[in-house]
Amino acid sequence: MKKIAVLTSGGDAPGMNAAIRAIVRTSLNQGINIIGFKNGYEGIIDNGYVTFDRRSVGNIIQKGGSILHTSRSLRFLEKKYRQVAENNLRVLGIDGLIVIGGEGSTKGAIELSKISKTRCIVVPATIDKDMPLVGPTIGFDTAINTALSAIDKIRDTATTSNVTHIVEVMGRNCGWLGIHAGIGAGAEITIIPEVEINISKLSQKIKHQLSKGKKGCIIILAEGGFSKGGASLASALKEKGSLDLRITTLGHMQRGGNPSAVDRVLATELGVRAVLSLKDGFSNMIIAKPLDSLEKIGFDQFLNSEVKIDMYLHNLIENTA
Ligand code: F6P
Repeated sequence: MKKIAVLTSGGDAPGMNAAIRAIVRTSLNQGINIIGFKNGYEGIIDNGYVTFDRRSVGNIIQKGGSILHTSRSLRFLEKKYRQVAENNLRVLGIDGLIVIGGEGSTKGAIELSKISKTRCIVVPATIDKDMPLVGPTIGFDTAINTALSAIDKIRDTATTSNVTHIVEVMGRNCGWLGIHAGIGAGAEITIIPEVEINISKLSQKIKHQLSKGKKGCIIILAEGGFSKGGASLASALKEKGSLDLRITTLGHMQRGGNPSAVDRVLATELGVRAVLSLKDGFSNMIIAKPLDSLEKIGFDQFLNSEVKIDMYLHNLIENTA
């Protein structure tokens, strides 16, 4: 493995820079040359790239966005442009490609892998967490925290002025952001695309809560949870009787900002593992860290155990410094 390329694709997610940093530093530590394609798959088609050295990724771990920029490449959906990309990868001598992105970007990588000999690995990054089997994706934790800090502020005014607020969060067709925002904000109601709602019941529930002395309610509406969005949900609720309602759409603010600690560590772990996996000959896969499980630990088991530091993580600090 002599030369690797990395790109960021699709909707940007906080932590993409941390992943680029980990990938660049690990590649160079392994004696592998590393370039970065600009603007996602568009960069492969147009041969637009930068050559990285250690310093090119200094001081970026804490920054939102992506220094490589992203795109949702329409051209890459066409076979003729994927063929151009395949040719450029071959001419540039790219042995391995790391795609940092979400569901659509993974599908792009799968299509490319059908025609290219370049080994391909995906590092999952999307605020939507809408990738099956994968578990947490880079950017998801930061996006929830960003949403929560906004919703907490809305809660202050809702409680003070006795008004019910609909807060729309992102997530495309997937309810993960909505669920986490709903739990974290202690929302009275959370509407997600995966669960059908009954407007009459919803309206009754809000009125019941208010009649019991609640000072304003928070309704979290995940994108896609009510076909036409917050305004039409408000009208539908108002048709069922008088309710003082306000609507806030959080929108793209959820995609920006400094990545949380969770996202920086996850991005570093996944980025390092992506390079090492390519070096070990792996291809056509997603590097993931699924951990959606709850455990029961008995008191005895607890008393007979010791805290163990993850030395693998400890080593990552030096390896990516
Ligand atoms: O995939 C991330 C995401 O922010 C979704 O939550 C949202 O539906 C979409 O991207 C918005 O995309 P764009 O910025 O292209 O409008």
